[in-house]
Amino acid sequence: MENNRGQWGSNFGFLMAAIGSAVGLGNIWGFPYKMGKSGGFAFLLIYLILVVFVGVVVMLGELALGRKTGKGTMGAYLAFSKKYAFVGFMGVASGFLILSFYSVLGGMVMRYMIAFLLQLLGLDGFAGQGGGFFGFLLYDYGGMLFFYALFMIITVYIVMGGIEKGIEKFSAVAMPALFFILLFVIVYVAFQPGAADGYAFMFKPDFSVFTNPEIGFFGVLKAAAGQMFFSLSLGMGCMITYGSYLSKKENLQKNALIIPFADTMVALMAGMAVMPACAAFGVDYGRGPGLLFVSMQTVFANMGSFGNFIGFLFYFLVFIAAVTSSISLLEVSTTFEIDRTMAKGKEPNRKKITLIYALAIFVVGLPVCLDALGSGGAAVKAPFEILGIEAGGAGFAMWNDCWLDLYDMISEGVLMPLGALVMSVLIGWVWNTKTIKEECEESGHAFTGFKMFEVCYKFIVPVVLVIVLYAQIMDFFG
Ligand code: PHE
Repeated sequence: MENNRGQWGSNFGFLMAAIGSAVGLGNIWGFPYKMGKSGGFAFLLIYLILVVFVGVVVMLGELALGRKTGKGTMGAYLAFSKKYAFVGFMGVASGFLILSFYSVLGGMVMRYMIAFLLQLLGLDGFAGQGGGFFGFLLYDYGGMLFFYALFMIITVYIVMGGIEKGIEKFSAVAMPALFFILLFVIVYVAFQPGAADGYAFMFKPDFSVFTNPEIGFFGVLKAAAGQMFFSLSLGMGCMITYGSYLSKKENLQKNALIIPFADTMVALMAGMAVMPACAAFGVDYGRGPGLLFVSMQTVFANMGSFGNFIGFLFYFLVFIAAVTSSISLLEVSTTFEIDRTMAKGKEPNRKKITLIYALAIFVVGLPVCLDALGSGGAAVKAPFEILGIEAGGAGFAMWNDCWLDLYDMISEGVLMPLGALVMSVLIGWVWNTKTIKEECEESGHAFTGFKMFEVCYKFIVPVVLVIVLYAQIMDFFG
């Protein structure tokens, strides 16, 4: 059985792949801008508390579920009972939708990376648009489609290679490289005059956001919790899938600590690259999604001639982060189909399965690629234009602003927290947390802190998720 599905070659390789999944656009883009919007330090503090009491335990639950059943998202639930198949289905659907918009963004990152490379070579990488490049790019449909497809092809190529020879091999090189490039960028940014304000925004205790009627404590909690699930690739079975390829001799508890720790470190490091850079050049960090493109381009343009090099390095790093995440998203679908084929007693063809799913995802992502992110008058109408209602807000903010936001609302906003909630109730109350303990102890390592784990699973995780879902519903109805 195991030989058909494949397995990680080493625990280090598994860790690089899992950290690679976790570290992505969510860390380098989402984290700094959500922190910028939701009060800086107050957001950071809540985020860290959530990682410890929710992130780590859910991570362990997912890894254990995958390894115990030896199946991906859907198969793991089916292994318990047919009636839970819907939870697996929600996970597969989330991965499907997230990958569609993730690849559009990944393509845009590649476009910026190449633009800076061209600049570096003395060419006009920004097609004569300078700082207006972002607005130009969105309506350059040929370019958008080309880079969207290119990013998807890279993802497919790696996933086709399989667990050990594709995903693990790529991640084991890419993740250390990402770390060192990020370190270099942080150090370079630290020497820019005015950078200190950025660190102050991140680390100086300030809770004024809690009394801000627009956001408040629950607003920050919701933003931090949503960000944490997305950033740790939890709630949609990605870690179930990766766990299913892990050998019984590996220490799950340790892995479940290392992955969130590393992911959080990279999020903090990304903040320490982005925020001080923005502060140094007077760019607002609360700018929302435009931060990654518009703001950062401005920052690098202001760094003088070396800025082109740093700009290229920065987008190269974001590209690596995005690819190691997109492969994990595609692997959820691939594993789902592999397990399904094997359950029918047939031999799965990984290459074919990967290709077919990627094509379907590509088609579903086309509106995201062609609606100019809801800027209006684009090739594909944004949801709010189609429905003939008013857009939720300037840029993106509401689910109806653009296709990306709609897909994001369905996956990250609803399916992921709902899936995580059902999973936590199943593990905490139905299957019993002992199932997880037993699976963890298969490796011969005693489960220390089990009582704490149980309390988190039974109470803290479901309560946080109910709050997130409630806030989500409130948001939806404006
Ligand atoms: N964790 C990734 C990021 O932060 C996104 C992701 C979500 C990847 C869910 C896989 C599964 O960008």
